[in-house]
Amino acid sequence: MSRDTLTVTDNRTGATYEIPIAQGTIRAMDLRQIRTGAEDFGLMTYDPGLTNTAATKSAITYIDGDQGILRYRGIPIEQLAAHSSYLETAYLIIFGELPTAAQLAQWELEVGHHSMLHTNIQHLIEAFRYNAHPMSVFISATASLSTLYPDARQIADPANRLLQVQRMIAKAATIAAFTYRHNQGWPNNYPDDGLSFVGNFLKMMFRMTEVQYQPDPVLERALNVLFILHADHEQNCGTNAMRVIGSSQADPYSALAGAAAALYGPLHGAANEAVLRMLEQIGSPANVPGFLRRVKAGEERLMGFGHRVYKNYDPRCRIIKRTADEVFQVTPRNPLLDVALELERIALQDEYFISRKLYPNVDFYSGLIYRAMNLPASMFTVMFAVPRTCGWVAQWMELVADQEQKISRPRQIYIGSPTRDYLPMAARGAAPEGVGA
Ligand code: CMC
Repeated sequence: MSRDTLTVTDNRTGATYEIPIAQGTIRAMDLRQIRTGAEDFGLMTYDPGLTNTAATKSAITYIDGDQGILRYRGIPIEQLAAHSSYLETAYLIIFGELPTAAQLAQWELEVGHHSMLHTNIQHLIEAFRYNAHPMSVFISATASLSTLYPDARQIADPANRLLQVQRMIAKAATIAAFTYRHNQGWPNNYPDDGLSFVGNFLKMMFRMTEVQYQPDPVLERALNVLFILHADHEQNCGTNAMRVIGSSQADPYSALAGAAAALYGPLHGAANEAVLRMLEQIGSPANVPGFLRRVKAGEERLMGFGHRVYKNYDPRCRIIKRTADEVFQVTPRNPLLDVALELERIALQDEYFISRKLYPNVDFYSGLIYRAMNLPASMFTVMFAVPRTCGWVAQWMELVADQEQKISRPRQIYIGSPTRDYLPMAARGAAPEGVGA
């Protein structure tokens, strides 16, 4: 009769252990009982990059990387992108259900009320050099929100947590817009709650002298779709950072800044910026084969390709590609789109990419839409961070309410020197080559 257990024989001792399996997982702590003797610490797993370790149970986002499936709270991303708004999707992600009309109106009102940014934080943003990387400014400004809201440390109070969540979702957009305006040397546009969340964001970013700014409906729709697609992606690097910092019971603004810092790396959210720079460097479709030869020789990385979880086409990329087509109906068509299409076409037929299951990811085409909106590449990761704030705060709320969670504190395999004595300076020989040179 089959049992939901794993039988392990330790060939060092001949001992056999029966370990429970639940939800396709064994508990790492169940390995600790496997020892060679009383002095032995017990068996651990070694997993750099946590490639095969579930660090939490989560009810928020489901990904099937082999099938190319992404769902928020069970609802396929394609349906949300077609029918929902960013704030409605944020409600779903955070509270677990689609809102009623009254709940959505209340949620929009509450988030809208928190979109103003204290002048201290505005001045902080203005204190940075005009050419400071917008992600550095975004990280600093989100971290500094904890100076304004010290009550955010009361994380055990659910009403207080919800207040911070509303503030974070709203203020991430305002910080992003003010960062961009400072970067361009333009005065800030203050929030306008007569517009949708995305419409208001576009206004804060782009209004110049218009008395009545009306966002272009195609761009508003496109950005709404991009925001929905970026809202959450389960336990990725940035979300893991949010959870790790949150696990020490730090205030959520500090955790949010840490999550944004993780997003800033080119292997994660800054890949969209790197893709655009790569497309510019390649320059024309004719140069694509030569570039891909260098990728295969290990001299370059094809940015916007590959994913830890997706071993199939990233479903977000398919939607973004369609959205880019719509945007290019109302903006000049960027010739770099042809370079991207040629890269994708050749890579998807090439044995190197096929055998490694490397497909375009969310960052491959999104930058072309941001560029069509006239945004500099350095702003692209901020455009990712604004909607991802929703996922970060939802995952933080789940963490705080999860009785099984503990402070995040991995183990190591120590490979350093065995115990040895401190040597007085006079007794030390010459430094080995390269040390302290
Ligand atoms: N170009 C060329 N080769 C690649 C690429 C790529 N973009 N991605 C993976 N590979 C190769 C890699 O060299 C390795 O080959 P080999 O087995 O011969 O050593 C193999 O594919 C497996 O890759 P890996 O590095 O072990 O995979 P990973 O899961 O550790 O890394 C990744 C995932 C996303 C960091 C990686 O695919 C990558 O660097 N992609 C480019 C950066 C990028 O687009 N990042 C955005 C990810 S999606 C949005 C987000 O998370 O923010």
